Amino acid sequence: MIKKCLFPAAGYGTRFLPATKAMPKEMLPVVNKPLIQYGVEEALDAGLNEISIVTGRGKRALEDHFDISYELENQIKGTDKEKYLVGIRRLLDECSFSYTRQTEMKGLGHAILTGRPLIGDEAFAVVLADDLCVNPTGDGVLTQMVELYNKHRCSIVAIQEVDPQETNKYGVIAGDKIDEDLFQVTNMVEKPKPEDAPSNLAIIGRYILTPDIFDIIAKTKPGKGGEIQITDALLEQARKGRVLAYKFKGERFDCGGAEGYIDATNYCFEHYYKTGKAY
Ligand code: UTP
Repeated sequence: MIKKCLFPAAGYGTRFLPATKAMPKEMLPVVNKPLIQYGVEEALDAGLNEISIVTGRGKRALEDHFDISYELENQIKGTDKEKYLVGIRRLLDECSFSYTRQTEMKGLGHAILTGRPLIGDEAFAVVLADDLCVNPTGDGVLTQMVELYNKHRCSIVAIQEVDPQETNKYGVIAGDKIDEDLFQVTNMVEKPKPEDAPSNLAIIGRYILTPDIFDIIAKTKPGKGGEIQITDALLEQARKGRVLAYKFKGERFDCGGAEGYIDATNYCFEHYYKTGKAY
């Protein structure tokens, strides 16, 4: 059973400067809730209640968010504002939170390796909180992926079809279709130019990884952009037939940039906030 979910959250968030100069990107609010809270809620809904966060310099607000604020809570006790904290209290009651710091930002693969002491020798999920995923008609994306993991017991990446002109923003897979919405990965390339892309099936910020990935990352040389790429490490597992790519049900908003962030805000305002489901 997967219980642990790792949130790499040490990146600089340069696409969202100046907002992210002194504030973690993962604390950007979508309507009234920070991105990371949506991610932790999705993890808990999937039964993952051991939350591990890889932070970095200037990211202390993340730890404060997942803690009690006695003064504030005392202040609003007994008023109708208490409802705003119901959601976050549920997370504090039902999840454990542990943190480690990435001292040099050497890429997503390196951030995941930095989380190794918090994960140990078991399969785990990874959420990039700036990819906000919703599925209004059914299970969340991580719930769908955990179900698949229980059946297949190998690493799984969530994918979606993207505009072929935009492959250079993503890790892109090639694979053999083995089921509806499920591919056995045969190749993966980090941020290929459209003409070099093996498909338009792009990896988004949800993964389930088997723990042998740590030793592979440790041996992985810096790739695209001089960063240690999780895509390069996953390719080694894929060559052994140990990676599936899953076209998830639901929608994903890239909140690391302004356009996706505004779309997510409008969506959550309509579907959660206005309907009273936002806390
Ligand atoms: P991004 O590629 O979105 O990078 O990282 P970024 O630095 O956050 O944002 P931009 O591109 O500069 O605007 C994907 C995820 O990996 C984490 C980020 O925090 C984000 O969740 N990450 C990336 C790390 O934790 N450490 C790194 O060294 C790089």
